[in-house]
Amino acid sequence: MTRESMDRLFNPRGVAVIGASTNPAKIGYRIVENMVKSGYAGQIYPINPKKGEIFGHSMHASLADVDGPVDIAVLSVPADHVLDAAAECGAKGVAHLVVVTSGFSEIGNLEGEKELVALAHAHGMRVLGPNIFGIYSASSRLDATFGPGGILPGHVAIITQSGALGIAMIGKTASESLGLSALISVGNKSDLDEADLLTYLADDPETRVVLLYIEGVRNGERLVRTLRSVTRGKHVVVIKSGRSARGAMAAASHTGSLAGADDVFDDIMRQCGVLRAESVQEAFDWVRFLSSAPLPSGEDAVIVTNGGGIGVLATDACEKYGVRLYDNQPVLASTFASVMPEFGSSKNPVDLTGQATGEDYARSLDAVFGRSDMHAGIALYCETALFDTQQFEAFLRSVYERYRVTKPIVFALFGGERIETMIRELRTEGVPVFGDVYEAISVLGALYRSWRRLKESDVEEGPPISVPVAEIRRVLQRAGKEGRGFLLAHEAAEVALALGLCMPRAILATNLDEAVRAAETIGYPVVMKVVSKDIVHKSDAGGVALNLENQSEVVDAYQAIVRSCLRHKPDAVIEGIEVVEMVRAGVETIVGARQDASFGPVAMFGLGGIYVEVMKDVSFRAAPVSGREAREMIGSIRSYPLLLGVRGEKRKDIGAAADAIIRLGRLVAECREISDIEINPLVVYDYGEGVKAVDVRILFHTQGGDAA
Ligand code: ACO
Repeated sequence: MTRESMDRLFNPRGVAVIGASTNPAKIGYRIVENMVKSGYAGQIYPINPKKGEIFGHSMHASLADVDGPVDIAVLSVPADHVLDAAAECGAKGVAHLVVVTSGFSEIGNLEGEKELVALAHAHGMRVLGPNIFGIYSASSRLDATFGPGGILPGHVAIITQSGALGIAMIGKTASESLGLSALISVGNKSDLDEADLLTYLADDPETRVVLLYIEGVRNGERLVRTLRSVTRGKHVVVIKSGRSARGAMAAASHTGSLAGADDVFDDIMRQCGVLRAESVQEAFDWVRFLSSAPLPSGEDAVIVTNGGGIGVLATDACEKYGVRLYDNQPVLASTFASVMPEFGSSKNPVDLTGQATGEDYARSLDAVFGRSDMHAGIALYCETALFDTQQFEAFLRSVYERYRVTKPIVFALFGGERIETMIRELRTEGVPVFGDVYEAISVLGALYRSWRRLKESDVEEGPPISVPVAEIRRVLQRAGKEGRGFLLAHEAAEVALALGLCMPRAILATNLDEAVRAAETIGYPVVMKVVSKDIVHKSDAGGVALNLENQSEVVDAYQAIVRSCLRHKPDAVIEGIEVVEMVRAGVETIVGARQDASFGPVAMFGLGGIYVEVMKDVSFRAAPVSGREAREMIGSIRSYPLLLGVRGEKRKDIGAAADAIIRLGRLVAECREISDIEINPLVVYDYGEGVKAVDVRILFHTQGGDAA
């Protein structure tokens, strides 16, 4: 879609309201009222067959009667009138249908919604909604919503899937003096979705921060692509409801069963540089701060406090939210020497003690902001009897005014009624002041996280890794011809080797003699595994024997495997027994990649082995993943210290594990027929010694069919 076309949505020359009504109880009345009261810059055309007048505008009986361009038609007529109204809009050359009407896919009327979009597209129109409360655009002063009105212009754009919450947000933004550049209700997202709107807002000079409220992700691959690029230039905050897991993703693999939908969402948002807020209040605090605070020029923040206790709390909060504290002690001592009372501490937190005055605070913060190596300020204050609160309020305002455009600063104040009132007043003026130290540092942490993303380089280190797609497809096709949607162990190994993964040596034996010879070729100890398309879970069927040290153990194991597999599944066809090198111990990890229902190709990394299901210590990224992203995935699991080496162990070969993640991610991104690939375990050895893919499982879609 062209920018020009989207511009007609945000800066329309004329807006028709089909279903405008003189009845104040109707949505069609409220929308016209808001458009008039917001001072919309273009032409307003209320449409109602009964005609009449509304807010000084004569109603037109039909859109055909309107002279002049109509870029948006807001549809506020019952669902069974929507198609006719849309056809009328098509004939008039409307660019966008803003369909407020409910009664489409949200109640199962998928057909009606499809018809609406098809009709719109046939006339070159785009559809926002249906099932929405409308759109607000500050650039054209257009409030075409049925919200409470009074939206303040500003620098935050809100895109919301929830109607009710979106409307409630209007009131909240007004009461918190939060200015908006745009507010768009996307409802059923039948046509225009978050990605379309984000793409437009990314280049909107008035929008500094985008707040997304998402209930469900559709076309997640496109959303990820868009977010990855938008967060290079703007702050993006997301609130997503539905933290509970989306039912069982057919637990055909760990990668699928470990992927609680919300965990995947969380990780992918992090990958995209999007800040995920836990609550609406947190999101509001973040976007408010992000829309007004300057970007820091470095990582080091300084806490100035009059209380030791809250100083410690703030230090904890800094750790939690990733805010680094300035730590050059001699410089701290000299910087604060002139303001520090006898009992104070110039260590960071800089503790001015309970006898500090407003001036002490002001001089301390001036000292912080006077230094180019101190990049952000956190001012904490506990109400004391020695302190003149009014004087403090004045000081706080003046400090904020002095530094608001140069360095980020947040305030947290604790005390009684006077302090509470002060907080309320200052917040209305837009001063970042909070009644809780964690809230204050949470907003600073959000700024830091987003800032790190903004300055991240997109340049990928090293040559890109390519995967031999044609060779791998040949293996899949062979198996597909046998009607299978999964690969047998030796076929999966073939794919893994083609991918460039290091596998244990393996030889397929079809009789006992061959098994003994294979073991001798490979060298003891060996592992033996059944190969049968009828047995997927080999261990459960007694189809695996480990650590076989000599010929007689190989003979016994061969017989035992065949016996117990046939007992487990009497009609199983056993193609042979695979004799495999017994791999040395290392850190057992799991690497997987699959097609996620929401996000498309997704890669996973985690602690592997038999405890994988219990520990669920995994991380996800949208694939393909870059080298940096693969290393971040590895670094983000709880068991990461095992890879760094614990108790005097050597650091493990993290680079080789990252390489395996990149290869698997690229494979599922390029071979969409592979629904799941999983290596468990991927044994990671000491630095420089690489990894070994011990067990590889691959599921794929046969032509027109499903994965097994
Ligand atoms: N062209 C122009 N006007 C028309 C047409 C037409 N083709 N057909 C009907 N009208 C007029 C009607 O005569 C009426 O005007 P009147 O008051 O002068 O008689 C007006 O349009 C509205 O039609 P009604 O039949 O009265 O419909 P009503 O306003 O009750 O409901 C609505 C329409 C609001 C679209 C309803 O069907 C609906 O979908 N409501 C839910 C909306 C919603 O909640 N959306 C999600 C928002 S987000 C959230 O959840 C908060």
